[in-house]
Amino acid sequence: MLTNDQLDLWDRETFLHPSTHLAQHARGESPARVMSTGQGVWIEDRDGNRLLDAFAGLYCVNVGYGRPEITEAIAAQARELAYYHAYVGHGTEASITLARMILDRAPSNMSKVYFGLGGSDANETNVKLIWYMNNVLGRPEKKKIISRWRGYHGSGLVTGSLTGLDLFHRKFDLPLAQVIHTEAPYYYRRENLAQSEVEFVQHCVDVLEALIEREGADTVAAFIGEPVLGTGGIVPPPAGYWEAIQKVLRKHDILLVADEVVTGFGRLGTMFGSDHYGIEADIITIAKGLTSAYAPLSGSIVSEKVWKVLEQGTDELGPIGHGWTYSAHPIGAAAGVANLRLIDELGLVRNAGDVGAYLIQAMREALADHRHVGDIRGEGMLCAVEFVEDRDSRRLFDSARKIGPQVAAALLAQEKVIARAMPQGDILGFAPPLCLTREEAERIVAAAARAVTSVLG
Ligand SMILES: Cc1ncc(COP(=O)(O)O)c(C=O)c1O
Repeated sequence: MLTNDQLDLWDRETFLHPSTHLAQHARGESPARVMSTGQGVWIEDRDGNRLLDAFAGLYCVNVGYGRPEITEAIAAQARELAYYHAYVGHGTEASITLARMILDRAPSNMSKVYFGLGGSDANETNVKLIWYMNNVLGRPEKKKIISRWRGYHGSGLVTGSLTGLDLFHRKFDLPLAQVIHTEAPYYYRRENLAQSEVEFVQHCVDVLEALIEREGADTVAAFIGEPVLGTGGIVPPPAGYWEAIQKVLRKHDILLVADEVVTGFGRLGTMFGSDHYGIEADIITIAKGLTSAYAPLSGSIVSEKVWKVLEQGTDELGPIGHGWTYSAHPIGAAAGVANLRLIDELGLVRNAGDVGAYLIQAMREALADHRHVGDIRGEGMLCAVEFVEDRDSRRLFDSARKIGPQVAAALLAQEKVIARAMPQGDILGFAPPLCLTREEAERIVAAAARAVTSVLG
């Protein structure tokens, strides 16, 4: 077995990590952490630290670590048939069964599922399908995609453009011209503090209407949004937001893509975030919770309305020119089948709603009175604590002080709890596995309260 020192050296010499300060990492100024094993909500690193993972990896290990039901399904599939492609109508029992299981759980207007590998490529597929669809329908001008500031939809070319976070655009020549951004439904950070929630929703509608008017509805193909903003700060929408936005989209014949990469398969206490908020999407993006990240797999679930046009397109043009070698990979599909069964058997959707509500409530009781805690919010098994220098004016801390990262680092070092410092603003995010117990939720909250006190007094 390699020593930790050897791994550390090779890591810095050879590994270009995603979402990492590359220079600091290579110079050895930021910690390298080598993970080794996990069980339930716990994960261990090679230094012998046992950590409570209150972010489920990257909000994806929804059933928790070390589930033999999934690892054995993966091993069995690998032994039987590790790979075959899905081109020209090929499939495996696992991929076909999984498509059936997804459609059985999805909103009733959904019709078919295309399988990819991750959330970014699934959203890339969605944009291509939408462009193809509008070309088939003879409206080649209707191509722009509206996304929200603070939305996160991946980090490819088009998906990095859809993502509404500056870090993902700067020096990458993004966003591409076909992507335009509108207001984030972030009530706490509204410009006009006098606005009620209802007024703020109307403001979001007005901004969207003005954008569509300016661009011309006949140039706008689709709107993409996460039911709850995730990476942009874990922000549930204000009441009535989705209903109001959908009215605007219907009026202008603009498709709706619900990016359920985080919210799909139970995180909000409902199977989909669309069920939770009454969203009637034309396409739903799924990834993370589909396999609980035991293997890479994503999907684009398309509605019957979209499907009909795709069918028409291939009748006119021949086979669709879109696909990956690893689309519907049998090992990912086997993991997905076992994962969805386990979610049902363990009642994890319900647990996410129950224990998630308990976690948010306990977090409020522990931290709401702290003079530097501006907002505590969440939905289902998603929770965020936002720090401010001044509560009344909601003034931010100087970003150079890195308050969010400092609290996350204290939580990790002192309490052995993993939370995520969200990339924009001083926001500490929690998204534990959906199997979290009340005792584990209490442990997270007590640890968070001590970590906040140690950094902010
Ligand atoms: C809502 C949402 N969409 C898409 C993605 C991109 O998924 P991936 O990182 O698997 O490409 C993410 C990743 O966090 C996400 O949260």
